Amino acid sequence: MIFTVAIDGPAAAGKGTISKQVAAHFGFAHLDTGLIYRATGARVLAGEDPLAAAKDLRPEDLQRDDLRTTEVAQAASKVAVMADVRAALAAFQQAFARREGGAVLDGRDIGTVICPEAEVKLFVTASDAVRGERRFQELSGKGHDVTRASVLADLKARDARDSEREAAPLRAAEDAVVLDTSDMSIAQAVDEAIATIRRVLG
Ligand code: C5P
Repeated sequence: MIFTVAIDGPAAAGKGTISKQVAAHFGFAHLDTGLIYRATGARVLAGEDPLAAAKDLRPEDLQRDDLRTTEVAQAASKVAVMADVRAALAAFQQAFARREGGAVLDGRDIGTVICPEAEVKLFVTASDAVRGERRFQELSGKGHDVTRASVLADLKARDARDSEREAAPLRAAEDAVVLDTSDMSIAQAVDEAIATIRRVLG
């Protein structure tokens, strides 16, 4: 069975958590496409050319333990502006999306550019305040040295860059179901996503 669930939305809206749980529920494979951009950004921070890094990305690059830092997140959103970098990373994501057995991909442009034919498209969002607090709890819980203000500033800067860029800007596909998780628990958001997918699976 070929079945793609595209989950897009701004940073820290809950895409990752929802994607993982939805994939586990249906037995689909899951790809966090942000990790690909983070891994490319991390190599650029180490001095590499962005396009060369994107073309040479290896599985072990996705295992680095510094990919969740705000510094790498910013570097990711800077390389993500470059159309040639995005093109170099597209084929892998497209093959993953159409693999046998079903796939969930989360990112910014999955439903609009990478896989416009996705059977289900969700656009997961939440208020700035909620997203900032969630990411602050996540990062400070992992021992990162962050403040609420610095986390919110990072999210807003990335959202602006991601939304305003010319290549594959962050936006909901016309046929996406919008899921605002501001007032939802994780369990509620996951349930909503699962119900939407079930309606399509039949
Ligand atoms: O999702 P995450 O916050 O890990 O993504 C890091 C950055 O990678 C985003 O801010 C965005 O610039 C970029 N990205 C993208 N397209 C995707 C996934 C991530 O441009 N499909």
